[in-house]
Amino acid sequence: MSCGHVCREEDGVLDLRLDASFDTLLDVEEYDAAHHVTDGSARILARLYSDIVTGKGKAATGKVLEIGAGSGNLTCGLAEHSEFAEIHCSDLSPAFMRLLCQRIKMLSCRNTVHFYLLDANELPFVPGSFDFVFGHSILHHLAHFERAIAAAYRVLKPGGIAVFGEPVMDTNALISLAAGTIRMMETVRPVPAFTRREQAILEVVARRSAEKRANMEGDRDALRQIEDKFMFALADMRHLAKELGFSDFDCISPHVGKGYGAAVKAGLVQIFRQCAIDPAKLDPYQAVFENLELTMGPVADRHPVGMFSYFVFVK
Ligand SMILES: C[S@@+](CC[C@H](N)C(=O)[O-])C[C@H]1O[C@@H](n2cnc3c(N)ncnc32)[C@H](O)[C@@H]1O
Repeated sequence: MSCGHVCREEDGVLDLRLDASFDTLLDVEEYDAAHHVTDGSARILARLYSDIVTGKGKAATGKVLEIGAGSGNLTCGLAEHSEFAEIHCSDLSPAFMRLLCQRIKMLSCRNTVHFYLLDANELPFVPGSFDFVFGHSILHHLAHFERAIAAAYRVLKPGGIAVFGEPVMDTNALISLAAGTIRMMETVRPVPAFTRREQAILEVVARRSAEKRANMEGDRDALRQIEDKFMFALADMRHLAKELGFSDFDCISPHVGKGYGAAVKAGLVQIFRQCAIDPAKLDPYQAVFENLELTMGPVADRHPVGMFSYFVFVK
């Protein structure tokens, strides 16, 4: 299945990197501590990806290539709780891959798991090798993410499906708007609800979507030193899917049916938890979310709301 170029195998990991000096900027221990792989989180992710492909009319069996597997939140779930026959998990980082191998060896896997070190921009496999390509929280780390999606197209079988869980600009712009509004309203409150540190975090969130848009429009090669590079506009991704030859594209949101205000608040609460800010501090600002509810209406089917949504590309 590999394309035949020279590769090394060590401790069950096949090294298919073309440039071994290219690595992630993430600190593996720090990332793992913050993202905590539990049986519950792995099971939920595996179910989500399986349901997405079955929702597209394809059985959640067959061969999966996972890119940017990292510490294994999705991989562990796929290995222990899914019906896929083969999981081919990969990452650029030897340190992440060591951690992932140890983690997978502790599980009672239902399928065969293979490990690769590789650059998701290259995917050195024979065309048409996989039924599915999955990536959770990987594309926005790649300066030239279009290459990774094109590579996924190449290694998919006809009718194969690629699914990527990513931050979507359409919603995150509203989260930035809410954070910026709250930050401005703080300045006129006699007693601020937020500490200086927390106000600084609100400011960062307020500026975030504009910065990510500028990254997308600027010099991509200059982004190598920035870890989280992008948020993806739905319309751009749809256009790219067409350009690359995919027959179908969809974006699936976990928040369909909710109101925009509730979904945006849920996004801010998630950020607050990550930054150790008490979500109850949003209570005096409920009007900001109610206003979004009023002006935007309910979330339509397939509209991307929530910090993360799932891009689905069908070959
Ligand atoms: C944010 S982590 C996501 C990890 C995991 N999928 C999860 O959801 O926890 C991004 C991962 O992408 C990997 N990565 C970064 N650049 C890559 C590249 N060019 N090719 C393959 N993996 C890459 C990093 O090593 C890291 O493990």
